[in-house]
Amino acid sequence: MENIINVKNPALTNIVTKLRNMNTNSYLFRKYVSEAGRILLLEALKDEKLLNKKIKIWIGEYEFPEIDEEKYVFIPIMRAGLPMLDGVFEVLKNAKAGFLAIKRDEKTLESTLYYERIPPLYGKIAVILDPMVATGGSLDYAVKVVKDKSPDKIISLNIIGAREGLKRISDNHPYIKVFIAQIDEKLNDKGYIIPGIGDAGDRAFNTE
Ligand code: PRP
Ligand code: URA
Repeated sequence: MENIINVKNPALTNIVTKLRNMNTNSYLFRKYVSEAGRILLLEALKDEKLLNKKIKIWIGEYEFPEIDEEKYVFIPIMRAGLPMLDGVFEVLKNAKAGFLAIKRDEKTLESTLYYERIPPLYGKIAVILDPMVATGGSLDYAVKVVKDKSPDKIISLNIIGAREGLKRISDNHPYIKVFIAQIDEKLNDKGYIIPGIGDAGDRAFNTE
């Protein structure tokens, strides 16, 4: 699983514990998910190239390095990925966003797409956002949809993943990089990550 990067950062570990804690209410849950997105993106950007751009400063025109922010397209997987969007936009304020809504069937664990609105990705860096990778079915689906739009690169930012789901992603899509805060041991018989954080969409939006 060479393309799965388990990000080590005490602030991120602290956030994951807050997310596991059932005393964390929906409002704070969304805030922590957003902050985790921000930290994961900062880690992913360590690999990225800077462009030298001529800008006007107080003593004239000089070249300085900057990120080509408009090259990045954030793609949260609804619902649970939505709160990550705020955090990543704090880092790259001129990035773009597209939306994918994918729901896995509670019984069959098969994922279906029910909404897609993604801008053109040719020449772009697509950044998929979803806190959870359980069986990996939803992320697998999302990567296929995104790949069909021919971006230069695909990155996935995820908070908690089960080993088997991550292996599925690594085997099926070795060309993407996955940045993840925590890898948990297993899935239960209903496909939930153990220990995990429960149903991330329900926790974030106060539903069940
Ligand atoms: C959750 C989560 C992932 C998916 C992970 O979404 O946000 O998208 O499950 O499971 P998988 O790896 O087995 O596919 P869910 O389908 O529950 O939808 P929701 O965000 O609307 O709650
Ligand atoms: N989706 C979630 O929200 N949580 C899990 O543990 C598995 C899938």
